[in-house]
Amino acid sequence: MMLSRLIPLGTAAALSAFFVLSPLAAQEAASGAAALSPAEALKTRAEAMKALGGANRALAPLAAGQTVPAAALQTAAKTMSEEGDKLAALFPAGSSIADLPESYALPTIWSDPEGFSAALEKFRKAAHGLEEAAGGGDQAAINAAFAELRPTCGACHQTYRQPKN
Ligand code: HEC
Repeated sequence: MMLSRLIPLGTAAALSAFFVLSPLAAQEAASGAAALSPAEALKTRAEAMKALGGANRALAPLAAGQTVPAAALQTAAKTMSEEGDKLAALFPAGSSIADLPESYALPTIWSDPEGFSAALEKFRKAAHGLEEAAGGGDQAAINAAFAELRPTCGACHQTYRQPKN
């Protein structure tokens, strides 16, 4: 029967089209963001990373067993999740250290897109977890969420960013 053959074929085509998209490309598509030029993406991700650095500094007392005032905590946690959500769209091909002299992004990001996406997802999930805990106000939950988030920055940098020195 023609029809019963056509349906599974169509499904297989749809599935293979889905899997051909790299995780990064799929996230870019899902974010709906207009594709940025490599230079624009570099500038935008540097701003996002600086915002993450500022939020990280604001939250640092948590790692030393101190508290952060609720308003500052919530602002920093929101920055983490909002900036984190932007990152997937900010690494277009052609924006590595090999392409742009100002970049510290290693070509590994594009040769290992699954690994990079996984590192990014781990960070994003932890950032959203922290935002939720910050809203809830339970100190133990906040500390646990920050303990989960904190190493995800360095874990990604270690593999995908050229150290500055
Ligand atoms: C999924 C990977 C990934 C995660 C997660 C990540 N970063 Fe980055 N970060 C990078 C890459 C790659 C660069 C280099 C970008 C470039 O130069 O093109 C970078 C650059 C930076 C910079 C330098 C920005 C500049 O140009 O001055 C800072 C600061 C920074 N990250 C802080 C953080 C902090 C803090 C966190 C966690 C809260 C974090 N990053 C999470 C990948 C990541």
